[in-house]
Amino acid sequence: MNGARSLHNLALIGFMGTGKSSVGQIAAGHLHFAFLDTDHLIEARAGKSVSDIFAQEGEPAFRDLERRVVKELASRKKTVISTGGGLPVDESNLASLKTHALLVCLWASPEKIWERIRGQTHRPLLNDPEPLAKIRSLLAAREPYYRKADVLVNTEMRSVKEVALQVIHQFQMAQAAQP
Ligand code: S3P
Repeated sequence: MNGARSLHNLALIGFMGTGKSSVGQIAAGHLHFAFLDTDHLIEARAGKSVSDIFAQEGEPAFRDLERRVVKELASRKKTVISTGGGLPVDESNLASLKTHALLVCLWASPEKIWERIRGQTHRPLLNDPEPLAKIRSLLAAREPYYRKADVLVNTEMRSVKEVALQVIHQFQMAQAAQP
């Protein structure tokens, strides 16, 4: 979609464990924006956890809910939106977010992601006998979609706060450059 864009919002995309929610909450506080997380919206809508949606209804049902939530976000203003790691794989989601938000992708290597999320159990796609190999292959498959973001921020050598400040800076520059 190449239509006009209005950067009312800031959307964070990226793989699981790249810090979207933590960074998003800090950025929202600094910008005096609301904070929304697509997984939380989906859970509220479904009345159950993401893990239960995957287990009981399957991934396609989850992706349907995700698409619906993304469409509803188009009416938001002054909101930082943290998105689920697989959301950008549907390009209609990216196109929709781009109409109203600056898209910032948080990046980390598979090893760093694994270091951050090992021990966590709420991500159904990583309930795998070989989680690091799963992260490597999923990240490789998704990289072309993540690269469609307006800005890519490497999170590896930075604290969550530093990443948030970098994201805010990018957002403010993009807003200032709007016609
Ligand atoms: C997913 C990432 C999760 C959640 C679901 C699927 C993915 O969100 O949407 O478990 O496909 O990468 P986070 O990226 O917030 O962990």
